[in-house]
Amino acid sequence: MTMFDQAQTEVMNDAKGASVQTEAYLEIRDVAKLFGDTVALERVNLTIRKGEFFSLLGPSGCGKTTLMRMIGGFEAPSSGDIRIDGSSVVHLAPHSRPTNMVFQSLALFPHLNVRENIAFGLRIAGLSKKEMRDKIASVLSVIRLEDFADREVSALSGGQQQRVAIARALVNEPKVLLLDEPLSALDSKLREEMQEELRRIQKHVGSTFVFVTHDQAEAMSMSDRIAVINDGRLQQIGTPEELYAKPRNRFVAHFIGNSTLFDGVVENGTAGPVLRSGDLELSCMPPEGVSMPFKATGALRFESVSVLPEAAGKGRLATVISRKFHGAFTRVRCDMDGCEVAADVKPTGMAIEPGSKVRLAWEPDALRILPTVNTIPDSNR
Ligand SMILES: Nc1ncnc2c1ncn2[C@@H]1O[C@H](COP(=O)(O)OP(=O)(O)OP(=O)(O)O)[C@@H](O)[C@H]1O
Ligand SMILES: [Mg+2]
Repeated sequence: MTMFDQAQTEVMNDAKGASVQTEAYLEIRDVAKLFGDTVALERVNLTIRKGEFFSLLGPSGCGKTTLMRMIGGFEAPSSGDIRIDGSSVVHLAPHSRPTNMVFQSLALFPHLNVRENIAFGLRIAGLSKKEMRDKIASVLSVIRLEDFADREVSALSGGQQQRVAIARALVNEPKVLLLDEPLSALDSKLREEMQEELRRIQKHVGSTFVFVTHDQAEAMSMSDRIAVINDGRLQQIGTPEELYAKPRNRFVAHFIGNSTLFDGVVENGTAGPVLRSGDLELSCMPPEGVSMPFKATGALRFESVSVLPEAAGKGRLATVISRKFHGAFTRVRCDMDGCEVAADVKPTGMAIEPGSKVRLAWEPDALRILPTVNTIPDSNR
């Protein structure tokens, strides 16, 4: 039974259909990386579980590739340890690690056919010809390219080449597959198809996938969990739902989804805690355990804000600046006491014209208060 068959059986046997197990599989412990004086990564702690689809998400230059290269063995950490399945791998060369990496450039051999390219990835010594054939056939079926085995790679589409690169990395049945922005070269339609395809492949083989992207929508739609990184520092680790509903700091609130951000101070007002930001004063529900006053950012998701007629008995008075139709919703930008606030509203029939007066309303807990103090987690252990 190959790893693929076994994983498939496990998935099918699991009544709830959840293939992710709970034990730690890939552990990044206090890993830091310096290039001369440049701190590419500050002390990072991450625990990735067996069978997880885990994404590293962050802007260009934040250290994603550096972390992947250290996991794969192409770069040595300046300090810290990397463990896979309970054993340290930092002293192992890339080919001796239970990992395989799909590089953004793909690095395929254009004049070899699909089968030869995949065979090139096979590094298990002493395989018989039949064993090699069986392994390649198995992985070709996983990536659904059985009919293309003898075709030269240069005669394949971008998406098909992408799948060959993934097959070449999968053929050794790595415990951990590292994918560094593997979809960035594809156009948006193909990219969406490949996102689904990758998820399907991952469920099918049951390996742990570490996926790098700077596209938050891509990370949100594909991942079991995401680590958000900025400027070499881990910002937050969580499921897409957690990151969306409970961003831990200003960076995450800004990077994931769409929010209006109010920078200011939280203090005690006459009727309870308020966030003061410029001329604006908004009642708020600050997190427990932070003594007032404190500096903070209030984050208000565009879709949490309702736009009501001026005559409505509730809400804050505002003036419409602009409105933009997006199909399923309309994005309305308003001036509220000198602050620009955006709302994504479903079609209501209400006329929302630039210059008109409206009222903006939201649930009290929709304004998320993010203290400016350092709340970056040291670890998700
Ligand atoms: N070999 C190197 N020597 C010196 N500095 C490096 C080296 N490799 C990376 N860096 C620096 O380390 C930081 C992190 O780079 P890294 O390639 O990990 O970013 P990234 O998040 O993958 O960015 P991108 O999304 O653009 O691929 C950057 O400031 C980069 O300039
Ligand atoms: Mg990179």
